[in-house]
Order: sequence, then C-alpha cells, then structure tokens
Amino acid sequence: MQTTAAHPIQPPPAPLAHSEEHFGAHRDYWWNPDFLDLMAQRWQLSGYRQLLDVGCGRCHWSLQLAQRMAAGTHVVAMDYDPKWAAGDAGIPAAFATHGATLEFRQGDAHRLPYADDSFDVVSCQTVLMHLADPLAALKEMRRVVRPGGIVICVEPCNLAQAAIANSLNAENSVDELCDAFRYALLCERGKQAAGEGVLSLGDRLPQLFRLAGFDNVVGHLSDKARPNLPPYADRETQAKLAERLSMQEEARGALWEGQVNRWIAALADPQAQAFVARYHARRPARLQQMTEQLAAGAYWDSGSALSYLVSAKK
Ligand SMILES: C[S@@+](CC[C@H](N)C(=O)[O-])C[C@H]1O[C@@H](n2cnc3c(N)ncnc32)[C@H](O)[C@@H]1O
Repeated sequence: MQTTAAHPIQPPPAPLAHSEEHFGAHRDYWWNPDFLDLMAQRWQLSGYRQLLDVGCGRCHWSLQLAQRMAAGTHVVAMDYDPKWAAGDAGIPAAFATHGATLEFRQGDAHRLPYADDSFDVVSCQTVLMHLADPLAALKEMRRVVRPGGIVICVEPCNLAQAAIANSLNAENSVDELCDAFRYALLCERGKQAAGEGVLSLGDRLPQLFRLAGFDNVVGHLSDKARPNLPPYADRETQAKLAERLSMQEEARGALWEGQVNRWIAALADPQAQAFVARYHARRPARLQQMTEQLAAGAYWDSGSALSYLVSAKK
C-alpha cells in the first residue's frame, strides 16, 4: 500500500456494534410523545409492569414504553451484541427517573432465554428487520409473554423512502427516480439473500403475527412527519439533518456501501453489482448537492417515514 501526504491512508473505522451508526441524537425524535400516549392507552400499558425489550440496543424504545407502564415497572433489556448487552450506567438512570428498574441480558431473539409466560409485555423496535428468521423470533416472543399480555413490534417500510420527494430528488428525471427505487429494491433483496433480514419488514409484520399464532392482530402507523425546513435552527431539525448528511459523508457512506456490497454479492448478479457500483459512485455528487442546498437554505423534506406498530394480545 502507498500513501501520500495529500491522501494519507486512513485506518479502517474500529468495528462498531450492531446498528451503532444509527444511534445518534436523531433517534430521540422518532416519536411524537402524545402519539405514544395514545398507543399506550390502546395497548393498556398502565396495567402492565414487566417488559422484555428484544434487541434493546441503547434502550431508546423500552424507555418510551416503560414510562407509560405501571409504577415500579421492571425492564429486561436483551441484546445479541455484547456491547448493548453490557449496557452502561446512564441507561438505568434514565429509567429510574420514571420509577422503572432495568437489567441487561445477552441473548438471541431466535431462542429467548426465558420460560414460557414470563412477561406482561414483550416488544422490539427495528429488530425483526435484521433477523434471518423473524417468524421464529416472533414465535419466541409469543411463547414468553404471559396469557393476557401483549407483544408489540415496530418495524419500518424503508422502501417507501425511495418514493418520497424532497428537495434533492423532486426535480429528478423519471430514470433517476427509477434508479433510486431499483437501488433500494436491490438492497432489500440482497440483505435478504445474505440472510441478514428484510429492510421493509413492516409491510409483512401483520402476516407474520398471524403465522406466529396470534388471531387478534392490530396494526397502526406512526404519525410522525415533522418537516425539516430552513433555517434548520432547532435541535430536532439539526439532529435529523446531521443524520441525513452523514449518510452521504465519507466514513458513514463507506460503511453503508460496504454493507450493501456484501448484500449485493449474495445476489450473484453481475448486472446488479455494476448498477450498484455506478450508484455508489454518485454519492459525492449527492453530498455536494445537499451541502449546497443547506448552505443556501434551499433544502426541504417532509420528515416522513413509514413505521408500523403491530401488536397482539396472547
Ligand atoms: C436497529 S437496532 C434497534 C435497537 C433498539 N431496539 C432501538 O430501537 O433503538 C437493532 C438491534 O437488534 C440487535 N440484534 C440483532 N440481531 C439480534 C438477535 N439475533 N438477537 C437479539 N438482538 C439482536 C442488534 O444488536 C441491535 O441492537
């Protein structure tokens, strides 16, 4: 390997824990609090006090649920990744402010390390979409929830993002828009072929609940669609735009493209590989376009995303 002063070779980024790159400040703004209050009423959360968060990550989701459950709620936060299973001191402190207690545990969603009928509420957010066998995991969630308890899953349709207009793509040609959708579809198919899940699992979630043995499946969509508009001054907009921008920047962009290349390799389709390579090569242009629009106060998006909440009582 050669290096020059102008282009020093950077060491590869230290290995990140699963989804670590997605745990920025923007994740604190995923939900409208009054919408979750309404969902808590529908789910009757205030009558429950034991929660299992499957694939907890940094517990963004279980913190939302626990604060709407009965006083003295106990949360088991379980994750496959050793970093998230170890937790850190700040997370239980956040639960304590709501009178809830928390313990961390390592485990695999496909084989939950709990007896039948152990919890009032068993839940996950953006986890089934990463699993080789989401149905097996959902059956496990049903097994460990007690009769009368509830299973709640939140999963997105990421494919929808490719069809949502914003200032970066609103004037694109039909061919360019089709390219964006083709890229998103290839990511879907490749991730699945690689055995790493389905990015738009939310669409299939009600059917998976039925196959897991639930006959009273209830579906909802998040009502969050807070627009990102100039002057981009408030903290929520800044956090969300920082996330969008970083997806196009070198370190994060290369990380994403490495994942996608692995998925596309699993498709064993040279045409797909060539298409994806051409699409990735246009990332610097996309970054420049977004940077220029932000600087000119010309960037806008509707802040929308398709996120399903599917639940059922046992
Ligand atoms: C996108 S993150 C979601 C984290 C958290 N639920 C949230 O919404 O902030 C996906 C999480 O699933 C975990 N995960 C992936 N495969 C798993 C498995 N087989 N069993 C348990 N957790 C798993 C990852 O380690 C990661 O923390």
